[in-house]
Order: sequence, then C-alpha cells, then structure tokens
Amino acid sequence: MPHAPTRALNSLVTSGWNRLARVYNTPLVQRVAYQPPQDEIIDQLRRAGIRRIADVGCGTGILASRIQQELAPEVVYGCDASVGMLRQAKARSPEVNWINRRAEDLGLPDGAVDAVVSTHAFHFFDHAAALAEFHRILAPDGMLAIVLNNPRSRFARLLQPQPIQHVAYFPSPAEMRLLVENSGFRVTEQRPVRRPLPDALVPDVVTVARRI
Ligand SMILES: C[S@@+](CC[C@H](N)C(=O)[O-])C[C@H]1O[C@@H](n2cnc3c(N)ncnc32)[C@H](O)[C@@H]1O
Repeated sequence: MPHAPTRALNSLVTSGWNRLARVYNTPLVQRVAYQPPQDEIIDQLRRAGIRRIADVGCGTGILASRIQQELAPEVVYGCDASVGMLRQAKARSPEVNWINRRAEDLGLPDGAVDAVVSTHAFHFFDHAAALAEFHRILAPDGMLAIVLNNPRSRFARLLQPQPIQHVAYFPSPAEMRLLVENSGFRVTEQRPVRRPLPDALVPDVVTVARRI
C-alpha cells in the first residue's frame, strides 16, 4: 500500500487503465483527444529550454517519448501507477526512465527535475498530495504544466457526476489556480488548449506555473 494519500479507489482506477492500455493508442483517439495538449507541453518546454522533465500519469508514454525524441533532454521520467500502461510505454522508448509509482509518491530525489508535466491524469490524483510531491521533486523556479478538462463546460460536466467525485475530480480553472498557488507555485499562464475542434468537444485547459 502507498504511504502517501491517494484519491478513493485509485488502485481500481489504475488497474482499469491496465485493460484500456490496448485501445488507448489508436490514431483517432490520439489525434482528437491527446495530441494537441502534448504539442502545447512540448512547445512550453522547448521555449523554456528545460532539460530534466517528469511526465506524471504518463499512460502509454507518448508524450514522454516525444519529449525524448524532439527535445533530447538530459533526462526524462515517465511515471504511472498502471503496469499495463507502462508496458506499452516501455515498448515505445528504451531511453525514457519509466517509473511505476503514484503521483503522490514518485520516489525521485528532492529537486530532481526542472519541469513536471501531466496531461489528462491530474483528475485521478489526490490533488494536495500530488502537488506537494511535484513541489518536492522540482528545482526552485521549476515549471509545472498540467492539462485537464474544464468541468464548467457542458460536455465535461457529464464526466463528473456527484457520485464519482471522490474517485476522479476535475477542478475548474479557478479552483486549479488556487490549488496550485496554495501548494507553493506562481501561476504564469492558464488558457484553453488550442485544437482544430470546437472547445465544447474536448474542453481542456492548460495551467502553467513556476515553483516558488
Ligand atoms: C487518461 S490517461 C492519460 C495518459 C497520458 N498522460 C496521456 O495524455 O495520454 C490517465 C493515466 O493516469 C494514470 N493514473 C491514475 N491515477 C494515478 C496516480 N495516482 N498516480 C499515477 N498515475 C495515475 C492512469 O494509470 C492512466 O495511465
């Protein structure tokens, strides 16, 4: 059992991802839902010249592998609690350091990275515990970039019925700003992810912050 607090039923959630790992990489799912936020994150990292990166809730490892290939950083960690998702990730790149750990307890040394990034996974984490862990592993002024759906949109509200909120909870952009700032970060940017689709279909928002 993990020592750090986790959101309720998180073991069940992550073992569910073991089964979904097989369909996750289909081109349509990737192009519509997951690629645009990954493009944004890579752009942020490139512009800031960041060299040590952790992708938390990395899933099948597409973003961490792209970071490795496109930015050739000093080190990139891909961290996920699902063995099934990481199995796919390991087949994708032998150069990324794949870590089977929870976001709330990553096991990396203090100040080990200059950026923590996370796309479409934060809603599953225990927010306070995960942000405290990101703060611990980030060097001073390190970058945090998190993408998640905006629950204020009509579509995303369907993803968050009251009974599942203890299992997965999507903070609104305003809640996200507060959570991040209360965890020792300064928010530098927050806006919808740019994608070739109406916002209502995949209403995700990127929040970028710096560790104080
Ligand atoms: C929707 S997938 C997103 C994967 C990837 N970031 C992407 O954008 O394609 C969510 C991932 O979060 C992982 N996850 C859920 N709870 C977690 C936790 N507490 N710690 C680490 N990973 C977790 C799941 O195992 C799953 O791989």
